[in-house]
Amino acid sequence: MVKKTDFLVVGSGIAGLYYALKVADYGKVTVLTKAPLLENTTKYAQGGIAAVVRSPDSIEKHVADTLQCGKGLCDEKIVRMVISEGPGRINDLIDIGIRFDRDVSGNYDLGREGGHSENRVLHYKDSTGQEIIRALTQALQDHPNIEIFEKQFVVEIITQHHFGQKVTKDTTGIECFGAYVLDPVSGQVNTFLSKITLMATGGAGMAYQITTNPAIATGDGIAMVYRAKGVVENMEFVQFHPTSLYNPLEAASFLITEALRGFGAVLKNSKEQEFMEKYDKRGSLAPRDIAARAIDNEMKLSGEDHVYLDCRHINIVSLKRSFPGIYRKCRSIGIDITKEMIPVVPAAHYMCGGIKTDEYGRSTIKRLYAAGECASTGMHGTNRMASNSLLEAAVFANRAAKYSAKTFENYNYSEEVPLWDAEGTVLNEEMVLITQSLKEVQGIMSNYVGIVRSNLRLERALKRLNLLYQETEELYIKSILTPKLCELRNIINVAYLIIKMAMNRKESRGLHYSLDYPEKK
Ligand code: FAD
Ligand code: SIN
Repeated sequence: MVKKTDFLVVGSGIAGLYYALKVADYGKVTVLTKAPLLENTTKYAQGGIAAVVRSPDSIEKHVADTLQCGKGLCDEKIVRMVISEGPGRINDLIDIGIRFDRDVSGNYDLGREGGHSENRVLHYKDSTGQEIIRALTQALQDHPNIEIFEKQFVVEIITQHHFGQKVTKDTTGIECFGAYVLDPVSGQVNTFLSKITLMATGGAGMAYQITTNPAIATGDGIAMVYRAKGVVENMEFVQFHPTSLYNPLEAASFLITEALRGFGAVLKNSKEQEFMEKYDKRGSLAPRDIAARAIDNEMKLSGEDHVYLDCRHINIVSLKRSFPGIYRKCRSIGIDITKEMIPVVPAAHYMCGGIKTDEYGRSTIKRLYAAGECASTGMHGTNRMASNSLLEAAVFANRAAKYSAKTFENYNYSEEVPLWDAEGTVLNEEMVLITQSLKEVQGIMSNYVGIVRSNLRLERALKRLNLLYQETEELYIKSILTPKLCELRNIINVAYLIIKMAMNRKESRGLHYSLDYPEKK
């Protein structure tokens, strides 16, 4: 099958859905998602979305906090732009139908999270992401120009090298003509031709054993753009969230929002002693890189698998009212958070790097944009500040939409694009080849490329990964494609990028901490 569309959107999280809505007034939009429409990382967002809503907060304070977290690698112009456009995007999201909690006087109830010097996090209880996805999908489904294809797996973006053109050193002329898309039911790879494509495929937490991310977070967009010779950057900055619920029985780690610490919860060890003051004067609300490393260190010192978050001193009524999801989740595994401390452990949470974009969300490949977690815009630097991710996604989806709407009519569909060639491939009957390799990559990344790294650990990781890379490429070339095989290949590509970029950074900065280059005191 060959399909033609003006705007091809890969991903149905906040970035993809918001962009789709914005361009739908100008042309035909096709949204592809490998999962059911409602499954994405966005829907798990708890804390909320950061924006300057009222004094004493100000754009300058939000900018200063963001720059401080990013430790010298944020692009200040981009930070200022995103934060200045934040209030406008919030109003727009409210107009689309997203609800945010208000206090008794009717003002927005603003939460506080690590690194923020003011309360500025708009939220809907502790399930902000679900509320965002509810309203966006409803608006999308009502729009006549938008077609949605669920459970369709984008395998590659289409560029000149699919017409047999050799890739030269000069990659500036590379253009995106659409995408090859696997329909897992028929096993066919279909061709979607587009005038403009937006990559909005989210993060890559699945590269690690313990992650807050859902199973979709396999870094597909980043890997596809890297293979197509687009620029990918800052991949060494993998953010570990300090507090995911310690529960070895579950694959994805349930997040215990930082907003709970903003509400007064305190990190403690098993002797019920607070320990964060030893590491940072902001205590339990220190930025994530510092808090995660402190917890990692405490766990190493005690030999225990987790630390604790204590909220027993918080007023029970307001605790339950503000964090009903966390209360219910902990209750379901036998923990009453009003009476017991919550066991928590750091977990891979957010990819700060990704597909390099400019201020309009344009990647280095022509006609290809990127927004949301798969993009590297210059906003987060070495460490994203809490709740700045949904904000960045909304601002860039909007900017990318405006620019694409202005330019899409300059492009035609390419007549040269060949159909996907699956000749000679056979069905791989042995799932174990994929599942075992995935476990091995996750083990390598967690043991050698986690919160604390060293030259030796990174070298060892790269050696081990090389073997998995070769085996997986061989399997990929001869197999009829399946989403699981493609995801494994993408995770291996992403793991490679994280390791290589970590090796190139000869310092400790933000989320990248190396024992060989300790931070200056
Ligand atoms: P996603 O929401 O992840 O959507 C990606 C989409 O791409 C999905 O629809 C997926 O199916 C699709 N896709 C991926 N690969 C393919 C493929 N090959 N083919 C087709 N489709 C594909 N940030 C905040 O700012 N505030 C918070 O409170 C907050 N809380 C969080 C809580 C949790 C538990 C987690 C994990 C993250 C949280 N974050 C938060 C981060 C934030 O939620 C994400 O960065 C953001 O939602 C990412 O949105 P996105 O649109 O880029 O991608
Ligand atoms: C949280 O609620 O702690 C997560 C917020 C974020 O990742 O921005």
